[in-house]
Formats: sequence, structure tokens, C-alpha cells
Amino acid sequence: MTSITSRPRNCHRLTRTFARLCASLTEEAEAIGWYEQRLAVEADPEALAVMRDAQGEEFKHFSMDLEFLLRRTPSWRAIAEGVLFRAGDIVDHGEQAEAEALGDDGDDGSGGAASSDDGTGSLGIGSLKGAAR
Ligand SMILES: [Fe+2]
Repeated sequence: MTSITSRPRNCHRLTRTFARLCASLTEEAEAIGWYEQRLAVEADPEALAVMRDAQGEEFKHFSMDLEFLLRRTPSWRAIAEGVLFRAGDIVDHGEQAEAEALGDDGDDGSGGAASSDDGTGSLGIGSLKGAAR
């Protein structure tokens, strides 16, 4: 399997696919939130049932998008494995998992875990300039 962070720097196709799945993940999360808000105010039981079913679809879509992205991003997966489905303090788990995955204090200065693993902190966004869509 090709990792997004181990790909050749000029492999725009993988980066575009990765970015599309990131956008999809965002959209699925937004849909989950929208259904949550609609469910909170809906009184009609049949409408509630329909919307609960639809929200379940969005849970599935979000989970599939996330799994795809984690399979393509080993450092993200390593951090996720340290955080997800664990009891206890979420922030502590996150800090520990980030430090273990990145091999330092976990603060790479990028403000997030999505930076590349090439040590530059670059997301490779600049390499997309002029790339065919
Ligand atoms: Fe969806």
C-alpha cells in the first residue's frame, strides 16, 4: 500500500485523492452534526426515524473515509490508535500518542497532525500549484 507520507514528492495524484477524502470526511462530519441538530428539535416520530437512519449512514460514511485516510497515513494512524476507543483522558492519550508517533515532544509546530513525515512540516500543498485537476 502506498502511504501518502512516503510517496514521491511529485506524486500529485495521491495527494489529490488524499485531499478529496479529507474533504469528504469533513462533509460527513458536518452532515452528522446537521442531523443531530434536526433530531434535537423534531417532534414527528416518523421523521425522527428517517433522520436517525440517515445519520447512521453518515456515521458509516465518516468511518469509511477515516479508515481510508488512516490506511494511507501511517503517522496519523499511529496517533489515532493511541487515542481512539480508549478510556481515560483524551488529551493525555493524544499527547502521548503524538509524541510516540512523531518521536519527539509531539509539538511539531504545525498546529496539527496532518503535516508530512519528511521533517519539513510541509503539507505538500505548494506542489499542487499548476497541477491538472
Ligand atoms: Fe454521507
